[in-house]
Amino acid sequence: MTAYNLLKAGHIACVVVSGSLFVLRYVLHNIHPQRPLPASLKVLPHINDTALLGCAIGMLVIAGLNPFAVSWLLAKIIALFVYIALGAMCMRATPASRGQAASFAAAMIAFGYIVLVAISKAVLPV
Ligand code: HEM
Repeated sequence: MTAYNLLKAGHIACVVVSGSLFVLRYVLHNIHPQRPLPASLKVLPHINDTALLGCAIGMLVIAGLNPFAVSWLLAKIIALFVYIALGAMCMRATPASRGQAASFAAAMIAFGYIVLVAISKAVLPV
């Protein structure tokens, strides 16, 4: 396996973990609104997201890609910021509120868009 493929596999594994942790945090927030999330569930997403980005940067370096010159990569970066902002909004919202459900749904749409862009390598995946 080449270093690029290894980083890509790591990146995809982190993508799965990132999405799963986000859903888990949202569900726990709703099942036990009064109970604070375990410390591990607050720290783990940051470690995983750092690894996700680290793998992405590694792939860009190996492939010699400038993410600001390649439209689908730029779209991923912008959508990533949107996903992070919506995710933070969701976790700060009142548990089990309409606002939390709406920001959760919007964050999942942003996440899905990033995955579709990655697979199609197009800004408008069809
Ligand atoms: C939450 C954020 C992200 C998600 C959900 C995500 C998702 C994915 C997925 C699912 C793939 C595999 C696509 C395939 O099957 O071919 C992939 C590949 C890739 N991603 Fe990401 N990604 C994210 C962030 C980023 C960022 C910020 C960058 C850098 C700008 C990036 C750069 C890449 C590159 C270079 C590949 C490899 C493309 C290839 O060789 O096929 N990703 N990403």
